Amino acid sequence: MCGIVGYAGWRDAQPILLDCLKRLEYRGYDSAGLAVAGTELQLFKSAGEIAVLEAAMPEMKGSVGIAHTRWATQGKPTTVNAHPLADCSNRLAVAHNGIISNFMGVREELQKNGHNFTSDTDTEVFPHLVEAEFKDDLVKAVQKALEKVDGTYTFAVVCAGCDQVVATRRESPLVVGLGEGENFIASDVTALLKYTNRMIYIQDGEVVSITKDSVKIVDGKGNEVRREPQKITWNLEDAEKGGYPHFMLKEIFEQPDAIHDSLLGRIESVEAEPFFQNEHFSTVKIVACGTSYYAGLVGKYIIEELARIPTTVQISSEYRYSSVSRENPLVVLITQSGETADTLGAAREAKKRGNKTVGIANVIGSAITREVDHTIYTRAGPEIGVAATKTFTTQLIALYLLAMELGTQNRSLTAQAKRSIVGTLRNLPRSVQDVLNQASEIEALAKKYSSARDMFFIGRSINYPIALEGALKTKEIAYIHGEGFPAGELKHGPLALISRDSPIVAIAVKDHTYEKMLGNISEVSARGSPVIAIGFEGDTELPRYVDDAIWIREIPPMFSPVPVIVVLQLWAYYLAKARGCPIDKPKNIAKTVTVE
Ligand code: AGP
Repeated sequence: MCGIVGYAGWRDAQPILLDCLKRLEYRGYDSAGLAVAGTELQLFKSAGEIAVLEAAMPEMKGSVGIAHTRWATQGKPTTVNAHPLADCSNRLAVAHNGIISNFMGVREELQKNGHNFTSDTDTEVFPHLVEAEFKDDLVKAVQKALEKVDGTYTFAVVCAGCDQVVATRRESPLVVGLGEGENFIASDVTALLKYTNRMIYIQDGEVVSITKDSVKIVDGKGNEVRREPQKITWNLEDAEKGGYPHFMLKEIFEQPDAIHDSLLGRIESVEAEPFFQNEHFSTVKIVACGTSYYAGLVGKYIIEELARIPTTVQISSEYRYSSVSRENPLVVLITQSGETADTLGAAREAKKRGNKTVGIANVIGSAITREVDHTIYTRAGPEIGVAATKTFTTQLIALYLLAMELGTQNRSLTAQAKRSIVGTLRNLPRSVQDVLNQASEIEALAKKYSSARDMFFIGRSINYPIALEGALKTKEIAYIHGEGFPAGELKHGPLALISRDSPIVAIAVKDHTYEKMLGNISEVSARGSPVIAIGFEGDTELPRYVDDAIWIREIPPMFSPVPVIVVLQLWAYYLAKARGCPIDKPKNIAKTVTVE
């Protein structure tokens, strides 16, 4: 939702904070601010992106500070509502990620006690609460203030005349980076990789205080916590553009490696790492949001095919309203960030219901990994572009692996079938590379259709969710109204919408649905819509039905979602490029959504 960084060290804090903050801009970019705590508090904020802040801000002197980039939840994205927010005496500054649910009552109480508020944010109660408690120990004052707030948060606090940054979390991410003569805090390890790869993940309820040469963590009861740092193997280039114009394009092109890495050591023997030995699940429930939800929909087809286990898929924010299943399903929670509040809430609900849980996550040590019984990491590396790309294809890999595991356990997969699946999985990086090699042809085609206002995506069976994901990519990146449908549904209503100005993207690979897809394509082209098809190389029939086509190398249809979605990722990217959209930072969207 928002991004926070903090620094205490031997160098000037301002340039380091700005540098780290830029790597968190994917978390929100409607306003930003920075506070440096010298003998006095220096605070500067502005509406707009970090570049606007950087251009306008004065030089600040001091080696302790915090910075924030915001995605507004409470209060408009204006300069006054930007973080950090200060107390009455302008001595303390607070940056916050999350929502303080009881802020109204707390604010009224503080106002009665004479505190002056300048913003419309929920956050502002916190600097005032700390101010009311602060004598000479900032950690204690923060602990006391925490007793008065409900909700979700990461708070980072600095105080004029103090050499420390104090931070704490509840259901929002917070990591400490350890340097030499300097220490950092951040919402995400990628912000800090330029400076250190030694990280400590802070847990819910803990309060951490960093100075230039110390890191002290206390738990909710005030006991000191000792935790070994983890060495992060991602390097800085992984988190930078590396010559590509956008993170999204770089991440699309990283997919052969990401898929390869996600398979490494996992397909030599699918029995090597059984998640739940001797457990048999009669149903599976997959829970996720957005792109991860569409991965889950593909997962349903994979699990039902390979493990023969009936599978349902649910949007995380709706999960708690579903009835408790008598079958005690295995609940699979998919989230690239591992921090999506709706999915974390669903994981807790699943636990409450007594279900076994598996998480599929990309960020090591993220919150979901502490909520579930077992985590399958996707190993895609950091994904900075707001649009999920390589994390989607690697989520599909994780689902193939999970389905093989379940199918092995319940004996619905034969050794021969497994060998053949492993062979296909091994070849997937090559199928994806073939698609990437056609990027310029896809770009030319996308340009041709880039003035469309509406675009419909159709597919059947396992490629129906890919139609949904293609539509989502087109919406969020290219700002074209994109809608995905099971191809058979068009005649039940959506056909009324189609016209010459609404191109149809049809996934028509040669599988058991192919003939029916040709029928559906005929229905739309008879009504004047141009059709762009995605089909298997060597198909001589499809060109007779469509206006344009993009070809992928033939693979077993169950695995076709992987190369097909790469086509649609490039399609959305080049549509957005032709339309001049801010590809890595689409309006109104944040990469990690830590509010419900
Ligand atoms: C996809 O391009 C979006 N950025 C979004 O739908 C995303 O997949 C969703 O918010 C879920 O995020 P998660 O995987 O980190 O939980």
